[in-house]
Amino acid sequence: MAVIADRCPHVRVTVTDINPERIRAWNSDRLPIFEPGLEDVVRRARGRNLFFSTDVAAAIRSADLIFVSVNTPTKTFGEGAGRAADLQYWEKTAREILANSDRGKIVVEKSTLPVRTAAAMARILNSNGKGLRFQVLSNPEFLAEGTAIRDLEHPDRVLIGSEETPDGVRARRVLANLYATWVPRDRIIESNVWSAELSKLAANAFLAQRISSINTISALCERTEADIDEVARAIGTDSRIGPRFLQASVGFGGSCFKKDLLNLAYIADSYGLTEVARYWESVVRINEWQEARFVQTMVANMFNTVAGKRIALLGFAFKANTGDTRESPALAVARALIAERARLVITDPQALPNARADLADAAESVEFEDDPYAAARGAHALALLTEWDAYRRLDYRRIFDGMAKPAFVFDGRNILDHQALYDIGFNVFSIGKMPMMRV
Ligand code: UDX
Repeated sequence: MAVIADRCPHVRVTVTDINPERIRAWNSDRLPIFEPGLEDVVRRARGRNLFFSTDVAAAIRSADLIFVSVNTPTKTFGEGAGRAADLQYWEKTAREILANSDRGKIVVEKSTLPVRTAAAMARILNSNGKGLRFQVLSNPEFLAEGTAIRDLEHPDRVLIGSEETPDGVRARRVLANLYATWVPRDRIIESNVWSAELSKLAANAFLAQRISSINTISALCERTEADIDEVARAIGTDSRIGPRFLQASVGFGGSCFKKDLLNLAYIADSYGLTEVARYWESVVRINEWQEARFVQTMVANMFNTVAGKRIALLGFAFKANTGDTRESPALAVARALIAERARLVITDPQALPNARADLADAAESVEFEDDPYAAARGAHALALLTEWDAYRRLDYRRIFDGMAKPAFVFDGRNILDHQALYDIGFNVFSIGKMPMMRV
């Protein structure tokens, strides 16, 4: 919304939330999320045509276009628990829109929703005694965290789905014209509403599937003398495959991939498409296996025990340039190491507040440390779990000197100079490469 306000000064954008703390933070100098470039965008537009408010009703009343971005977590109860999307916040919002509208409006689904949600929302909105007509559009968001501003300013595509009726098409043109202020027309794709909803789930499923695929190959590389970076380069130069999203890792995280894969599988199951469901679920299973495998490698090589050993986790965010830790592979690794009775020291440039909350129940096994050198001091092993650039440039000689011996590095992101680390004296383990062990 901040980018829309920034790029469309002729439009007044009001962002609302029922949480006053959050709105206060958006109105302050300390924004509630870390995202490179966001501060500049907010500073340019805030108070001009971008406003943050807790007055949801007033914002609904005055709006022509309403973007709904409430969360749709995985259901934790009842039918579909653990797989389906929990739509209670979406439905509440639809009812709130209805209660505060005295004219028809365009309602835009921004949250990732199961296929056919827009129809349910349209039914709620259009079953009103006031004779109002609403159009529900699907406009899924493809930005990735850490690069959100760039992704929004220069999107590969903007996708807008609507009902294929004259009113539906008219509504999607209104939204298309808004994006066309800064997005080239040929990048704005219009479709029916189901295609738009399904495309979002499918895009995330395909991206996640590439990571699980390369991760299965990484396991083979570790047993043979193939090198995963060489294999990824060789595969990625096939223009049909392409080079991106082939970075083998300890696993994918983030709030979307797992949730959307499970949701896709649930939808497939609900249509009796069992094979489809099992196929996409296997992408999640491989990811969990990869995380577990990483820990097994650590324990097996540290003489089959990490009990009582100090282990430094470099990075806790699910990827670099964010403080977000949702579904972070670092959390799975930390939990498995805690189960092995290791003593963890976690460092991360942005994610420590979230890490503390995530591991609040394991406080006696975990320390948190801003300074990576202090985190590594006295440790038996380093496990690099987030590809922060700063970790490439640490003085590993100095770190080695302060560590227990033999010293181990487990590079879960393959970003370090493994030969240099080995030359310093480390035992080096990475993803999809032969271990470099000191004898
Ligand atoms: C993703 C989609 O990319 C985005 O289009 C969608 O809108 C939301 O979900 P995000 O979760 O923010 O975005 O991050 P992304 O860059 O996709 O990374 C997801 C996870 O996969 C991270 O843990 C990342 O480290 C990991 N990853 C990514 C790999 O392990 N290897 C890769 O090659 C790429």
